[in-house]
Amino acid sequence: MPISSKERPAADQGGRPRTAGGRRATAKSSGLAKRGIFITFEGGEGAGKSTQIARLAELLRGRGAEVVVTREPGGSAGAEAVRHVLLSGAAQPFGPGMEAMLFAAARADHVAQVIRPAIARGAVVLCDRFLDSSRVYQGTAGDLEPSLLAALERVAIDGTMPALTLIFDLDPAEGLSRAAARRASQAADRFEREALDLHRRRREAYLAIARAEPQRCIVIDASPAAAVVEERVRAAVGPLLAQAGLAGEPVAVPS
Ligand code: TYD
Repeated sequence: MPISSKERPAADQGGRPRTAGGRRATAKSSGLAKRGIFITFEGGEGAGKSTQIARLAELLRGRGAEVVVTREPGGSAGAEAVRHVLLSGAAQPFGPGMEAMLFAAARADHVAQVIRPAIARGAVVLCDRFLDSSRVYQGTAGDLEPSLLAALERVAIDGTMPALTLIFDLDPAEGLSRAAARRASQAADRFEREALDLHRRRREAYLAIARAEPQRCIVIDASPAAAVVEERVRAAVGPLLAQAGLAGEPVAVPS
């Protein structure tokens, strides 16, 4: 199967700065983060999540944190194997129930192998999509019992909830055209191919989650230039980073 331009390595854990003596400076050795932080990034297609994750990761590494950048579906060896089945559309003929179970299986492996161990050792985990993607994408796919989705979520995350979820909000027509430009001549994946109306329902579903869980979710308007969105992301994560001893200079919030 061809690897699309969006294929990225699984969990990327590199980039910690070296101290003058050549030893790697970890959050612990520099006295910064005392416990791990789990932040997830959500939104429709082409909303710019991966760009913003990379920028935040760079900022936090510069402050001495161990940062684990990861994504779903995927992020661990087992989950990456399932990713290909899901994004190629190979599981689609077997129905939304099959897809929901495969997303959950991938998530369970990712949580157990990558996310939970990273949080336990005090890393900052930045995850591109997590449980809200299943709530939104599988939840709007039709004819799936909410109780089935809730049960799969419980098993998959096994208590590992993000401390903060940033929901990148963008008009789906704009997001799909950005996604098309990004993948150039590569074909759209199984989810990008769907009708605009379904993408609009997903946008509404994300906003409904944000309204229902305001203590966990912050909606970020993803329509401005990347530099403006970056400032908003920094402002949104600021309080959580401060609690973990990873605050930097105060960041001005653009109006
Ligand atoms: P990917 O190319 O990684 O996404 P993006 O760049 O849009 O973040 O594709 C992941 C696709 O899988 C995306 O269309 C959303 C979908 N998805 C689900 O349907 N359920 C899930 O639980 C997850 C994690 C992703």
